[in-house]
Amino acid sequence: MHKFILEEHSMTQDLYTFFSRRFGCRHFLCAVLAGLLVLPAHADSGRERLSLDRGWLFHLGDIPFHVPVTQDETYYATKAGLASGAAAVKFDATAWRKLDLPHDWQIEQPFDAKANPAQGFRQRGIGWYRRYLAVPESDRGRHVELEFGAIATHATVWVNGNLVNHNWSGYNEIRVDITPYLLYGDNNPNVIAIRVDANAMEGWWYEGAGMYRHSWLVKTDAVHIVPDGVRITPRQVKGDSWEIPAQVTLENDGKQAARVDVEMVVTGPDGKQVARRSTSIDVPVLAQVTASLPMTIRRPSLWSLDKGALYHVTTTVRSNGKTVDQVALDTGFRTLRFDAERGFFLNGAHVKLQGVCLHQDHAGVGVAVPDAIWEYRLRRLKELGVNAIRFSHNAIASEVLDMADRMGFLVMAENRNFNPSPDYMKQLEWMVKRDRHHPSVILWSVFNEEPVQATEAGYEMARRMVALAKALDGTRPTTAAMSNGLLTPLNVSHAVDVVGANYQIPEYDKYHAAYPGKPFTSSEDTSAFMTRGEYTTDKARHIEGSYDNEYPVWGNTHRDAWQAIGTRDFVAGGFVWTGFDYHGESWPYTSWPSVSSYFGIMDLNGFPKTAYYMHQVQWIKDRPLVHIAPHWNWAGKEGQEIVVRVMANVERVKLLLNGREIGEQKVDNYRMNDFKVRYEAGKLEAIAYTGDKEVARTSVETTGPAVALELVPDRGALAGDGYDAMPITVRALDAQGRAVPLANDEVSFEIAGAGKSIGHGNGDPNSHEDEKGKTRKLFNGLAQLIVQSNWDSGGTIEVRASAQGLIPATLTIPVKAVQPIAYVTTAAAPKAGKP
Ligand code: GAL
Repeated sequence: MHKFILEEHSMTQDLYTFFSRRFGCRHFLCAVLAGLLVLPAHADSGRERLSLDRGWLFHLGDIPFHVPVTQDETYYATKAGLASGAAAVKFDATAWRKLDLPHDWQIEQPFDAKANPAQGFRQRGIGWYRRYLAVPESDRGRHVELEFGAIATHATVWVNGNLVNHNWSGYNEIRVDITPYLLYGDNNPNVIAIRVDANAMEGWWYEGAGMYRHSWLVKTDAVHIVPDGVRITPRQVKGDSWEIPAQVTLENDGKQAARVDVEMVVTGPDGKQVARRSTSIDVPVLAQVTASLPMTIRRPSLWSLDKGALYHVTTTVRSNGKTVDQVALDTGFRTLRFDAERGFFLNGAHVKLQGVCLHQDHAGVGVAVPDAIWEYRLRRLKELGVNAIRFSHNAIASEVLDMADRMGFLVMAENRNFNPSPDYMKQLEWMVKRDRHHPSVILWSVFNEEPVQATEAGYEMARRMVALAKALDGTRPTTAAMSNGLLTPLNVSHAVDVVGANYQIPEYDKYHAAYPGKPFTSSEDTSAFMTRGEYTTDKARHIEGSYDNEYPVWGNTHRDAWQAIGTRDFVAGGFVWTGFDYHGESWPYTSWPSVSSYFGIMDLNGFPKTAYYMHQVQWIKDRPLVHIAPHWNWAGKEGQEIVVRVMANVERVKLLLNGREIGEQKVDNYRMNDFKVRYEAGKLEAIAYTGDKEVARTSVETTGPAVALELVPDRGALAGDGYDAMPITVRALDAQGRAVPLANDEVSFEIAGAGKSIGHGNGDPNSHEDEKGKTRKLFNGLAQLIVQSNWDSGGTIEVRASAQGLIPATLTIPVKAVQPIAYVTTAAAPKAGKP
């Protein structure tokens, strides 16, 4: 089978880069497109990174270990290779469910009033995974690693009956060298067994459960680069002169010392080589060494928000002229600076941080979000005018940070567990090492809202974590998201470079007056509530109106928070809690029946709430925008006053109802422009002016009743790689083809051909519909269905949506046959029996 290796710097890699930049296509799709044209042999790079996403067995529930009772049992219970129970090599798992990763079992559970509201009223529990794989004889002598993107929450990993890893966080990658335990040959299957305890929680939001990111098997030569062993963060030396103080850490599992040549080649966004450096180094047996290859680069193209100028750094290790390992990473050249008076500067130019905080789940799929759906989410944020993202409160998948680099976002990378003890420092160390090459990352945040933040203990803990982050990456400032205690005599703000304030707007000026030399940003703000498409708050029905009047005691309206941030130069910017709704944490209720949040600027599907338009007109300045809320379907309210909010980024707006002028106002870009309009059915129109010139207009119309369904795909086609996915908007139209804003019909889905549904949502925080089921009600006119291509598929996906009394909608999605991502096939299970 053709094996595609992304690490290989070859023509394929160049093609990959070309496709991803030229067409902005996703990681896998680009790889496949590139792989289609060139068939690289792994031997060229010495490294294979094979997907381990296919072919797992899963059991929901624990399989408790037998407690030894005899002398003999106890003796053997502690021996290498002799793990018992479901971790045993010969355990019989034939009855387990077959599935592929990424997988989140929590999203598959029914809503349950007795389950934890923070986690979205779904049970979590314990689960087991097993996978069988053969390693060919030809791999004997190579180095083999498991790489799991993340497992929620506590994971214990066995390979061939050996306990190889305990992992205490659901947000960090797990890398395990499994070389010593391996069996070789087609008839000698290796067994991976993983026990996942998702009763352990690390957050007060929906966290998902299981192996929810990608998994890989990495094979290299015995002499190889260690995980995250290439350090290439660029530094400006002076003016146009930059340096990459590159370091490469190598390891040798072999039986003989090796002398290797390490070469680094840097190519620019145009594919042209801009630097090259090589060195030789001895790698003793079972030891690690670090080679230094500093390089100078003059006048690089700078990475910026609208130009994700990425430089490609290929590190090649050769032994006697033969390539034994190769790793390629992208990075970018940019300067950043937090100024205590004037905020944030990128490449010397002021940028106000127009940020959002994000959790990592989406409607229908929980935390097992396909890369393509992440790309859709980031695209929605870009359209909104967001330029900064705080991945709160944990490290995000590396595929998502790659997108942030390409699409041009500034990222606050946040560590999950505030704890400077060795087990937890490993998590921080992993995050900084993995992410320090990303130009998008501008801040390391050591925590979010810790009760000890205003104590000496908190300060001492933060000081140690900050020191570690700085030792691993001296190019970015550190921060911590503090929710109180900023002005106490000794607190965490004294240990970080940039003070991060969660909420606490009344403290902004006081802090700045007390510490005028300390850079300051909002790390989290707003937390206002809205239910998409609802305009009247109804506490009894757990509905929050969308005029931006609802917020908790610790938060603010969208308008108040942005006004406080936008009018203060010393505040670098803000991070709205949150860009999208998420499962769980359904303030202001946190009680049944509310199962997901109300905070999002967009709902769980990425459908805009009123907050979307308010921020869009505040954050986008380079083109005229005008929006109206609410919809104009108020039958029964004829003659009554309705508040119409016009949102614009120009000088003046005029509002017309059925051609009659209602009024004209000077635009207030902080407060927005409200008009009181007596309702009559028809067309409400807003015209935006700069000077006397009309620069934009928009309208909403009263629709008739729904007569038909419509399916609107997000993209024109899918790649048939089993990964590519897209959201489809489901809505109801009236006889004139206008979307009906209040439609709530129950829609049934039928999907046939080269793909499947992987879930759906409608943005109603009180809906208890099965997110994987065959039906979904429209909520205020909208639902979203997510389809994914099948493995190794080509042809079309046929989607049919029907609802009682409406004309059904059909959609044909072309699925392009592509080379599969190279993957590890599944071997037959070892014969079941006693260990
Ligand atoms: C913050 C916290 C977030 C979220 C938010 C809700 O204090 O950092 O994780 O809980 O409140 O308003």
